[in-house]
Amino acid sequence: MAVQRYLFRIQRNRRNSDGSVESKWQEFNVEIAENATVLSALEEIKGHQDGSLTFRQSCRSAICGSCAMRISGRTRLACKTHVGKVARNGVIEIAPQANQPVLKDMAIDIGPFYQRIRAITPWLQEGSETAQHVGSSSYDQVNHVTQCIMCGCCYSDCTMAEVSPQFLGPAALAKAFRFVSDPREGKKSDRLKQLSESHGFWSCTRCTLCVDVCPKEVSPMEAIVKLRTRAVQKGFTDNVAARHALAFHEDIQKDGSLNEFTLMIRSLGLIGTLEESGAALHLLKKGKIPSPFPHRADQVEQLRTMYQALERNPVDVETRAKEVVPE
Ligand code: FES
Repeated sequence: MAVQRYLFRIQRNRRNSDGSVESKWQEFNVEIAENATVLSALEEIKGHQDGSLTFRQSCRSAICGSCAMRISGRTRLACKTHVGKVARNGVIEIAPQANQPVLKDMAIDIGPFYQRIRAITPWLQEGSETAQHVGSSSYDQVNHVTQCIMCGCCYSDCTMAEVSPQFLGPAALAKAFRFVSDPREGKKSDRLKQLSESHGFWSCTRCTLCVDVCPKEVSPMEAIVKLRTRAVQKGFTDNVAARHALAFHEDIQKDGSLNEFTLMIRSLGLIGTLEESGAALHLLKKGKIPSPFPHRADQVEQLRTMYQALERNPVDVETRAKEVVPE
């Protein structure tokens, strides 16, 4: 493969003793094959141009997760990313992971990320819900989330973590699903109840970036949606987000469109709605209060048929390996 010249724009970060971080961009020209990895290019820069450039690496095989960094606008593993795939007009921009404290250049403090993992109690617990029989297909239930290498790519690009640092984040929630779906786990309901609360799985906005950036195809958002489904099935619906989701479900099934006039009261309850009355008055003044008479979608019967098919033959929430497709 022909060698080409690329311009690497690299964010250099230095942490001061007071905890503040000074950042500046530095440019390096590198001649390298387009199928070389970004990690190889960084080693070339460190070895021949600036030995102070700091980044983490270990396995070089997309296994350890230590080389995760922002590359051309997305968080990726540098050892898995080919230079030619991410160059924009010959330029590649490199920065540390977002949503995590920066230590130096691309090295971040992974401690807060692991605190979130710790918060979901990442081990099996004894309890009354332990299955008496663990079947041969049980591994399928936990398989896809166990591929996670804890690289932090999903947390770095998570839009909810950006605005709500208390959010558990996609990796921790995917890990939680691994235990909720394990037949040996004895406290599945306790876990679902706890994760239904603030900063748990209902906080996810389903932007899907965690699915896009995960280098191991773990699809954390899929695990989050499954956790929600399990929680609703178990009756943990006493929160705004669950009531909101159930109201959506009810309206679409009935009319094929939302009754936004009653959506707020069904989600927030009477007291919550009264607390938001200022916003409602504002909407009223602007002529944006929706009609109390919902619009019924054309061909709503087809939609109901789809719901009935799903109820008869639900999309499997246990595994990806044995997904059941509705009729
Ligand atoms: S060096 Fe281990 S994942 Fe990249």
